[in-house]
Amino acid sequence: MGERVSVMISEEEVENRIREMAEQITKDYAGEELKLICILKGSVFFTTELAKRIDLPVKLDFMSVSSYEGTQSTGRIKIVKDLDDSIAGDNVLIIEDIVDSGRTLSYLLDLLMNRNPKSLRLCTLLDKPDRRVIDVDVDYTGFRIPDEFVVGYGLDYDQRYRALPYIGIMHLD
Ligand code: IMP
Ligand code: MG
Repeated sequence: MGERVSVMISEEEVENRIREMAEQITKDYAGEELKLICILKGSVFFTTELAKRIDLPVKLDFMSVSSYEGTQSTGRIKIVKDLDDSIAGDNVLIIEDIVDSGRTLSYLLDLLMNRNPKSLRLCTLLDKPDRRVIDVDVDYTGFRIPDEFVVGYGLDYDQRYRALPYIGIMHLD
């Protein structure tokens, strides 16, 4: 079976957009400290690029979650690796690679809201609105994309293609 990846969003476009997002975030949190929560592993590339461009004191923490697709496709989420530190009193920004059904972000929002952050917002590099099952209010979105399976810039197909420097469409034929 053949696998092919075609460019959807070039490296330059991705990095320009991340710069814009970082500028917006810098303005919105002016005078504050910010904690970025990187959702492993897909958000690693996005998080580091964004963090470098935000002109504020930034802290990083990491969380890993997995989803179970049951027979009913209930899509239950489980924590594989929790945050190292408390977020109580912090300005927290959750960094995701892509919002698809919305299950992961809505789960994380509920979970982290209960830990009493000073503020809690959502940031995603990509959004596939056509696939949404649960409504989530995303504060910062890089690109809205059509319903295609994408890889690169952290996103994987079976753990591969994460290190591509652009966002590509995965073709299986
Ligand atoms: P959600 O909980 O359905 O919103 O799923 C979000 C997660 O599904 C992302 O963090 C990705 O790990 C994965 N995912 C969704 N769409 C894609 C895709 O097109 N390529 C790679 N991973 C994807
Ligand atoms: Mg993910």
